[in-house]
Amino acid sequence: MVDRANRPSALNAPSAAAPGAQVDITGSGASSKVTATLPSGESVEVLLYGATVTSWKSNGGKTENLWLSEKAALDGSKAVRGGVPVVFPVFGPPPKSGHATSALPQHGFARTSRWEFLGKSTSEDALDSSSVKLDFGLYSSGLTEEARKAWPLDFGLVYSVTLSKDSLQTVVNVRNEGETSFEFQFLLHTYLKIKDISKVAINGLLGVEYVDKVLNATTHSQKDESVTITGEVDRVYSKIPQDTTTVVEDGAPRFDVVRDNLQDTVVWNPWTEKAAAMGDFSPDAGFKEMVCVEVGAVNGWQKLEKGEVFEGGQTIKSLL
Ligand code: BG6
Repeated sequence: MVDRANRPSALNAPSAAAPGAQVDITGSGASSKVTATLPSGESVEVLLYGATVTSWKSNGGKTENLWLSEKAALDGSKAVRGGVPVVFPVFGPPPKSGHATSALPQHGFARTSRWEFLGKSTSEDALDSSSVKLDFGLYSSGLTEEARKAWPLDFGLVYSVTLSKDSLQTVVNVRNEGETSFEFQFLLHTYLKIKDISKVAINGLLGVEYVDKVLNATTHSQKDESVTITGEVDRVYSKIPQDTTTVVEDGAPRFDVVRDNLQDTVVWNPWTEKAAAMGDFSPDAGFKEMVCVEVGAVNGWQKLEKGEVFEGGQTIKSLL
């Protein structure tokens, strides 16, 4: 289990729905989604399928911060291409054999499972009236038979999505509800929407070691202050000492991605060929308008003994 000294600030996050925050559940079956809108116009949309955040608008509702493919499946037929898919209990392709996750698909089952909406928080002692928190749950009993068979362990996930005026916080709480220990990885596969990838720099990773999946999974150290993207990038930065990764666009900070009790960050952009090869990636040139900055615990495994809990997540600040 991870060191609990850095207790996530999520626990201190505003836990109440703002008076006047509008929360709606629309659609049916796998297309059901929860939408929350603050009185000042900011909004968030969460599909129950995968508990995938598919839209987050700040700036009074005028600025969309998440990239969503025009061909993203939003009907529960496959993982959503865009927004914030939740990766659990394995990141990437699982170990070929010999691990409890080996029979799972790439990135696990959380992003392709239907979650329950547990409700908005309604505590009356809220200090911050301009935020709303939505909770989603996924339990072993709620998995498809296929997923349950592939990972027959008893767990409970609670995923909390808190919308504030200028930020979105997404935090997971993983509980081992079984009799035996289990190992897992976790990652928030956030697709940030940007205007022009050629003007983007990602800061906050200087000196950090990363595995470059484009270069045969070799290990490197980040030598430049900024990561810039001029081709396919697929890097797993690990054990990052500082909490904040900043996405700068055209010289101005655009997003701060703040990790909470998570040490790793994946930077991913598929670029021309990989984007074209993905049937659900659209438009083809969409890779110029997105960059994935994915916080997680993916270096090795997190272990939870019976009854233990892990909590980790992110706060993304829109700096426009
Ligand atoms: C990233 C991985 O997190 O997700 C990439 O580092 C992968 O290797 C990408 O290509 C997208 O994965 P998927 O399963 O959504 O196509």
